[in-house]
Amino acid sequence: MAIEWTEDLSVGIEEIDMQHKEIFKMAANLIDAVNNNTDGEQLAKAIKFLEEYVVLHFALEESFMVQSKYPSKLLLQHEEQHTEFWEKFNDFKNEFAGTGPTEFYLTRFKLFLNDWLVNHICKVDKSLGDVMRSVKHS
Ligand SMILES: [Fe+2]
Repeated sequence: MAIEWTEDLSVGIEEIDMQHKEIFKMAANLIDAVNNNTDGEQLAKAIKFLEEYVVLHFALEESFMVQSKYPSKLLLQHEEQHTEFWEKFNDFKNEFAGTGPTEFYLTRFKLFLNDWLVNHICKVDKSLGDVMRSVKHS
């Protein structure tokens, strides 16, 4: 299974799509860092890049939610999902610090990243894109 952005993940807002593509690329790099038998240092670096980028990305989405008057119930739900991402991501980060990049670890990390990204984008980021587009055209 490859981690990759596909057209059906588009939320219809270019800036968000561009960042999503970048996140998928970073997640794929992270997996490659270990598949290519590179050392743990490479993976640690890839984890850090992804982490820093996702911080910026969530901040961008959250500012879009405020600007587009995204309904507050959806906003809370959306932010909750972002928080959950960090909880799980941090678990993986801590596990990595303990055991290093085993194959078992990597398989689960990859599944988590892919499932979380695809689910999150399809369920909540697309709804944000819809709201943003309707605001633009009204
Ligand atoms: Fe999001």
